[in-house]
Amino acid sequence: MTTDPLLVATGLHKSYGHTPALDGADLTIRSGEVVAVMGPSGSGKSTLLHCLAGIVRPDSGEVRYRGEELSAMSDGERSALRRSDFGFVFQFGQLVPELTCLENVAIPLRLNGTRRRAAEAEAVKWLERLEVADVAGQRPGEVSGGQGQRVAVARALVSGPRVIFADEPTGALDSLNGERVMRLLTEAAHDTGAAVVLVTHEPRVAAYSDREIVVRDGKSRDMERVS
Ligand SMILES: Nc1ncnc2c1ncn2[C@@H]1O[C@H](COP(=O)(O)OP(=O)(O)OP(=O)(O)O)[C@@H](O)[C@H]1O
Ligand SMILES: [Mg+2]
Repeated sequence: MTTDPLLVATGLHKSYGHTPALDGADLTIRSGEVVAVMGPSGSGKSTLLHCLAGIVRPDSGEVRYRGEELSAMSDGERSALRRSDFGFVFQFGQLVPELTCLENVAIPLRLNGTRRRAAEAEAVKWLERLEVADVAGQRPGEVSGGQGQRVAVARALVSGPRVIFADEPTGALDSLNGERVMRLLTEAAHDTGAAVVLVTHEPRVAAYSDREIVVRDGKSRDMERVS
């Protein structure tokens, strides 16, 4: 499948003080593909993901999203882009503890101006899709780790993002729950045509991807896999 690149990062450098986190990383993400970003701890995987998502600004190099350079946008434009086009899943879900699971999933739609009833109706569909409709009325502290991560995936997908950024989304789960989260995440992404940038150091999780990138010492390398 050849489609125009969605996200293109070239020559990314980023240092924290004297510590180089990225040292010339390049990466291209196309619509609909699931890309696993692998590599040892401290190699720059999270920094790369944050640069791609416009959360961290690289010291040099550029990230283009659908041809537009992220660092040329204003902060407001970048935040609006994150809300409309990107979805996020992190290691510990990061759900809002005071809200129910249903309300958590509805947040991205509410932030984009959707009215409560319509947002919650859509949120219910995604909770069903992720097989966690039964915990809709519970708060995150009252559900299991695996359920919480599936709620977080529902929240990342509810607004119809073009790119889902997932940083160790199964890192806190046992292998059975991790596999279930990955299966549901990749199925939903393939059905909606969203691209997934998946940071993981577990080969078992990376096996759900279409392509693997290895980051080592802040440099990225493509590992085309024959599957
Ligand atoms: N906010 C920060 N302040 C200072 N140093 C940082 C910061 N974020 C990352 N670093 C450093 O940059 C380097 C790359 O970090 P990064 O978090 O990108 O690695 P990682 O590959 O995601 O590691 P892990 O697998 O442990 O999550 C590390 O040396 C780290 O200590
Ligand atoms: Mg990390």
